[in-house]
Amino acid sequence: MNERDTLKINGRGHLEIGGCDCVELAKEFGTPLYVFDEKYIRDMMRVYKNTIDTEYGGKGLVLYASKAFSCKAMYRIAAQEGIGVDVVSDGELYTAIAAGFLAEKIYMHGNNKLVRELEYAVSVKVGTIVVDSYSEADILDDIAAKAGIVQQVLIRINPGIEAHTHAYVQTARTDSKFGFSIADGTAEKITAHVLAKSHLKLKGYHCHIGSQIFEKQSFALAVNKTMDFISAMKAKLGFEADTLNMGGGFGIWYTDEDAKISVSGYAEYLKALISAVKAKAEELSLNLPYILIEPGRSIVGEAGITLYTAGAIKDIPGIKKYVAIDGGMFDNPRYALYQSKYTALLANRANDKCTEKVTIAGKCCESGDIIAVDVPMPEVKRGDIVAVLSTGAYNYSMASNYNRNFIPASVLAKDGNAQYIIKPQTYEDLVRNDVIPDYLK
Ligand code: LLP
Repeated sequence: MNERDTLKINGRGHLEIGGCDCVELAKEFGTPLYVFDEKYIRDMMRVYKNTIDTEYGGKGLVLYASKAFSCKAMYRIAAQEGIGVDVVSDGELYTAIAAGFLAEKIYMHGNNKLVRELEYAVSVKVGTIVVDSYSEADILDDIAAKAGIVQQVLIRINPGIEAHTHAYVQTARTDSKFGFSIADGTAEKITAHVLAKSHLKLKGYHCHIGSQIFEKQSFALAVNKTMDFISAMKAKLGFEADTLNMGGGFGIWYTDEDAKISVSGYAEYLKALISAVKAKAEELSLNLPYILIEPGRSIVGEAGITLYTAGAIKDIPGIKKYVAIDGGMFDNPRYALYQSKYTALLANRANDKCTEKVTIAGKCCESGDIIAVDVPMPEVKRGDIVAVLSTGAYNYSMASNYNRNFIPASVLAKDGNAQYIIKPQTYEDLVRNDVIPDYLK
């Protein structure tokens, strides 16, 4: 696990997060339970913000990519830390606004924003919308005209970088549903298209090369290609972009196959990106653009853990041992989707020696409902508290009510106190929108 004093094994041999004993948390709040370390989240936001302040004279903004974990408390924390957020749906936008987040500091993404979503964004005065199709530019221009405003926009471009990560989370290959390709000339065409709109104000470009990326060069390469494109647009269309949004994507530790980056170590990613921007601006005689980054996973991923209770244990001699927990793919679908790997330990016996490898399985009616395979463990018994680490990003946000299981509650732990930030669901929540039509009665 990452070196920090907020996630450790305490004197009772229990896992502790944010000063809270996980065994006590499991007793108080029940399992499954998502637990988030508030200090880690704030420290990560600060390290990015401080790097822009110190290395780039504050000429930029960190946006928390809220798709990683969206709830009112997260937007509150981002607001308190003086950063912006990115949203990708009206649902995320509604949550941010409901939390009192300043609309001006919200950037809205989406490859197919619905008319309803664009209208809502304009009505709440979202600061910037990242345009991702011709028809979206046309529709947004109309909506802005009707509202009597000029909407600030960026264009999502695709620099054609192959980042080393899972194919499903790569987004800037040439074959991608996202963005306008620089290589095939469509990025230039949409630039001219948007510049001609009287109710859109083009500020610059956005690109996002993928997620869970560790190579700093990938980001520098994307900067180089994007800055070359900015220079080309200046020469061809007389438009010099003043904003450059480089997206998110910094990798985190899930297992010891991944690099372990300390909180302060993440500054290096941003420094590499900033030096590429500075070098290119000088080479091409461009003004230094206002820069944005959109980290999601790296802010909240390692901040979160999930606590489960071990139930049925099934040993298939010579094949494998299954430890079934009270959660599953409904609270963490990432193994089912991406064969993601996780580290797990027994929160109630964290110092016990690992003597076997087990497969942690969920409780859904599906063989692929697995959380992690081949996890070293002491001999697990029914009732043990299993902690899965690095579940803060893309777990709750991708959870579902599959098999009508409850989406677990989330608590925020800090200095030995834990508070709900998302309450547990109830049976009533599960049937809230169910209707029995009259003819079935
Ligand atoms: N900005 C844009 C435009 C994005 O599409 C994403 C992630 C981010 C920022 C944040 O990237 P991050 O810093 O979190 O890597 N469900 C997948 C991850 C999908 C990421 C989608 N876009 C997973 O569980 O691994």
